[in-house]
Amino acid sequence: MAELEKIETISKKPELSRDDILFLLSLDDPEDIRYLGGLAYAVKKKYVGNKAYLRGLIEFSNICLKDCLYCGIRRSNNSLERFLMSRQEIIDAAEFACKNRYGSVVLQSGERTDGTFTDFVCGIVKDIKSATDGKLGITLSCGEQSKETYRRFFEAGAHRYLLRIEASDRDLYYKLHPPDRHHDFDTRLSCLEWLKEIGFQVGTGVMVGLPFQTISNLANDLMFIKKIDADMIGLGPYIEHSQTPLYEFRQQLMPRQDRLFLTLKMIAVLRIMMKDINIASATALQAIDGFGRERALKFGANIIMPSLTPGKHRKDYLLYEDKPCIEENRDECKDCLEIRIKMAGDETGYEAWGDSLHFINRNHKNQTYV
Ligand code: 5AD
Repeated sequence: MAELEKIETISKKPELSRDDILFLLSLDDPEDIRYLGGLAYAVKKKYVGNKAYLRGLIEFSNICLKDCLYCGIRRSNNSLERFLMSRQEIIDAAEFACKNRYGSVVLQSGERTDGTFTDFVCGIVKDIKSATDGKLGITLSCGEQSKETYRRFFEAGAHRYLLRIEASDRDLYYKLHPPDRHHDFDTRLSCLEWLKEIGFQVGTGVMVGLPFQTISNLANDLMFIKKIDADMIGLGPYIEHSQTPLYEFRQQLMPRQDRLFLTLKMIAVLRIMMKDINIASATALQAIDGFGRERALKFGANIIMPSLTPGKHRKDYLLYEDKPCIEENRDECKDCLEIRIKMAGDETGYEAWGDSLHFINRNHKNQTYV
């Protein structure tokens, strides 16, 4: 039965209660879900506008210390070739971003904590800044590091950092990660705090539709995101990967289509709860539905991350199976995206960093950003 009035009333509340969140996440009538999406889209338009900002995603290395039970590039997966892109390949990708008026890049990799890696990342950040006259905003997504390393990344010129909590419930976290020193829930929480203290715009997020995960966990995830006052969010559906231990539990998963709708509801509720944050439309959405990312824009997301990873490495960076566009090159991605954003009714935010207004509103009310 349609619950439009109740949905609207909740969406206007200054603070959503846990029950409100549970109610919205449990909607299953397509008309109700569409209505929720429309309200979230209106909030997005009012508070952050209808520009979708681009972050060219450079997945520069799949070498990883970690053994996360869901992830295709986990340390124990021997069925892929490990790579580290050369400095020149990375700069080329960043220059492509600049030439095509993407305002920012995201440098993402598996997790390494050795000094050679830290030096490499700092060097790359500085090189990209100088090769593009400081025009490109740089987001890093290189996992858990020491506070000192985060500080070095920041001083090198990166100003945003993505570190998904993956699951904010401690018990669930340990069902998804092996219990050793590389996978400590408290360390992950500390990392998020350090990033914030250092001055990064901090992004986090969770996977949606994981085995063992309940709606109640997801409601708590949204409250966690609000509590830590994140600036940016990446929420995507969990997609099983046959070379990972979690694959064993695939019979317990909800159908992929339901994971897609649950992710869209999570995005919409979050937009209503945190009006001026940046929310990325996860590529994993597109693995389920060819128009998944555009649908997310209609449910309140405002960031798109087109891949700039060279074609030859894409098959070795499959965090999950059925990852879209692994046969494509970056020119094709660029052309396809502009059309898709327009189809969603949005504009593309070219040549702008598209920083999180939430961060700006909190920290630098009088400062102007590019
Ligand atoms: N399905 C969906 N997302 C995944 N990630 C890793 N493995 C999977 C998977 N099997 C996500 C994690 C990580 C991000 C880079 O990719 O949330 O933080």
